[in-house]
Amino acid sequence: MQEVIEDLERRREEARLGGGQKRIDAQHARGKLTARERLEVLFDEGSFEELDMFVEHNCVDFGMPDTVVPGDGVVTGSGTVNGRLVFAFSQDFTVFGGSLSERHAEKICKVMDSAMKVGAPVIGLNDSGGARIQEGVASLGGYAEVFQRNVLASGVVPQLSLIMGPCAGGAVYSPAMTDFIFMVKDSSYMFVTGPDVVKTVTNEVVTQEELGGAVTHTTKSGVADVAFENDIEALMAARDFIDFLPASNREEVPERPTADPWDREEPSLDQLVPASAAHPYDMHELIRKTLDEGDFFELQPAHAANIITGFGRIEGRTVGIVANQPMVLAGCLDIAASKKAGRFVRFCDAFEIPIVTFVDVPGFLPGVGQEHNGIIKNGAKLLFAYAEATVPKITVITRKAYGGAYDVMASKHLRGDLNYAWPTAEIAVMGAKGAVEIIFRQDRDDPDKIAEKTKEYEDRFANPFVAASKGFIDEVIMPHSTRRRIALGLRKLRNKALENPWKKHDNIPL
Ligand code: HXC
Repeated sequence: MQEVIEDLERRREEARLGGGQKRIDAQHARGKLTARERLEVLFDEGSFEELDMFVEHNCVDFGMPDTVVPGDGVVTGSGTVNGRLVFAFSQDFTVFGGSLSERHAEKICKVMDSAMKVGAPVIGLNDSGGARIQEGVASLGGYAEVFQRNVLASGVVPQLSLIMGPCAGGAVYSPAMTDFIFMVKDSSYMFVTGPDVVKTVTNEVVTQEELGGAVTHTTKSGVADVAFENDIEALMAARDFIDFLPASNREEVPERPTADPWDREEPSLDQLVPASAAHPYDMHELIRKTLDEGDFFELQPAHAANIITGFGRIEGRTVGIVANQPMVLAGCLDIAASKKAGRFVRFCDAFEIPIVTFVDVPGFLPGVGQEHNGIIKNGAKLLFAYAEATVPKITVITRKAYGGAYDVMASKHLRGDLNYAWPTAEIAVMGAKGAVEIIFRQDRDDPDKIAEKTKEYEDRFANPFVAASKGFIDEVIMPHSTRRRIALGLRKLRNKALENPWKKHDNIPL
């Protein structure tokens, strides 16, 4: 008996060594943790249970039978994160560069299937040289099996990808289909074709980091959500982040105790909106002052910063925040902002996370570039997402709500449940100056008349009361009472039941 027990322990030790000490040292020398070290940071201490530790590849070509490493380059299993069940896979770069073989893919699929069965999130830690070159098409098949599961799991269990090393070629499409992507600066990259191929085909010279590093994807492309300095920071953030999410679409949002009074008033908000409509202010201040303990997990903070998206809690329960940011592009909606917020709204709706929308939007961003790149279809993404969402929707207009953007931003007409406005709100087709320049074009050389008409337009429309008189605004509220109003609203909407007509699926303008 003792012998077999010792044999098991020896086998386990061997498996835990992955590709060997030399390669582990190389991983460390690059500032990266190993696959198992990452899981130790991600999960509650001692809670991770590894499965399929002895799975081996089945490749018989290129001398592969002589190089078998137990586990085959990916560590899979489940454990708890802050006490809640989470499934994970972690690619081991020390074993064939974390490359994906048929068996490696089967392990990932198994863990995803288990997560789907019980309804728990899946976190993928990606660090891989891509398809296991020795296996050829078997590896491609493996990828497609994972892709298929990503799609079926979408909207059923939350999927989070952490990119902690290479992720190239078709391999990028698995993370791309998960809900959120975190990247580590300087050690991770994602691209469909790398710098060498780019140089050959387009003659562009670019580094890996410039082409697909964490900064590029969290600023320019918007492919990833947040960039972190190192593995530990990314993993700790993933722990915090997963705490906001329900385990599946069958479960309610998690509830955490909070000491923050639900009816806390914030007198400083009465001064948030500047006297001049041309002056910006930071919408983050309103967000933080509204949420429990000011705790806000922002997504894509550096991409399309004219709109803010992220999670927080009110009375301990998760809410999704969408807010125009007057500090960037005056809070206009453009292509990037519409895509960013549209996808976020759909995630919230899929997982029954109530959406709180703060509005200060002067309209859609004008420009040839915007039009030619499809602001029509892209702007429609956000409109579509809000209109189809059946979760509780509470909207607060702080200042501008002009034109089509007024409609888009969770207006009453898109089944907003509670639509509030601050007394500083201006709900109109456009700003007074623009409106008068159009209506009184014939008087454009008469500055006194223009000023008089501008004042008249402002007096008539630069307020929330016209909209309130029509019931488009449910109530004009004091800025300092915003948290109390939202908390009360969310309580009342907890049992909201609203269903869209039956359909196979909709046809959102992609
Ligand atoms: C098998 C691989 C591998 C792969 C790396 N290795 N990638 N083994 N299949 N795809 C092995 C290396 O042989 C090496 O083994 C070890 O992993 C570490 O690799 P290094 O090259 O020494 O590391 P590094 O210098 O850090 O470079 C990492 C790398 C590079 C940039 C990822 O290895 C690389 O370019 N690999 C090939 C990438 C690739 O072309 N993949 C296929 C893409 S197509 P030893 O024994 O020396 O430690 C694809 C399609 C997916 O993925 C399609 C999905 C639909």
